[in-house]
Amino acid sequence: MIILKTDKEIEQIKKSNQIVAYVLNKLRKLVKPGVSTLELDSFAEKMIRKRGAVPAFKGYKNYPATLCASVNEEVVHGIPARRFLKEGDIISLDLGAKIDGYYGDAAITVPVGKISEKAKLLIDVTEKALHLAIEQAKDGNRLYDISFAIQSFAEKNGFSVVREFVGHGIGKDLHEDPQIPNFGKPGYGIRLKPGMVFSLEPMINAGNYRVKVLSDGWTAVTADGELSAHFEHTVAITKSGPRILSIA
Ligand code: MF3
Ligand code: CO
Repeated sequence: MIILKTDKEIEQIKKSNQIVAYVLNKLRKLVKPGVSTLELDSFAEKMIRKRGAVPAFKGYKNYPATLCASVNEEVVHGIPARRFLKEGDIISLDLGAKIDGYYGDAAITVPVGKISEKAKLLIDVTEKALHLAIEQAKDGNRLYDISFAIQSFAEKNGFSVVREFVGHGIGKDLHEDPQIPNFGKPGYGIRLKPGMVFSLEPMINAGNYRVKVLSDGWTAVTADGELSAHFEHTVAITKSGPRILSIA
């Protein structure tokens, strides 16, 4: 069941998403060779708590950290550790926060120092795919119009779209209906309505779309070892079009 949000609730969801966006911007600036993903995690947790919010992922299904930090072939859910970033890596930072009962959720992928042209293209295509998806998040469209926007753009650029993880509704729960695959057939799926709030999150691989989960039970990596990128925004569907809530 999809829970429609009032204007007031959308403002509350925006508040938590603004905290997420603010912290992600700070983290982006801290990413450099020599920094560990654990340092990024403790920084993120402090910043979230300082703003009166709580980390959304910590404890969720026993996830042990505030941040998901996924490096190179890691797709999502990389657990922060004494892993030190090096020049040429790419890192996906996925962050969630909750304040006053409402969740925020967003992600970015950033370069560590100078990266390859292919890595740069993968990042750019994934971010662009997210924005094309957001443009489809409007009254009267269908759910898989969003999915198709992501898939068609990714594949046109020679990349592939992860199947196992999806975008989602968000509000008083981190994951609400509907599930939003990053691939699908345009013109199909439920009809989109004002008051729906979605976290849209393309995960795009440089090689094939297959992923596997490591023995830590969380870290998803590409099966072929190629790079993967992830961007996420939380977006409200309004009468006047899509509204991105996860910007600082
Ligand atoms: N943005 C991700 C999601 O919506 C992050 C979840 S990590 C978890 O699924 F630990 F909370 F599962
Ligand atoms: Co999410």
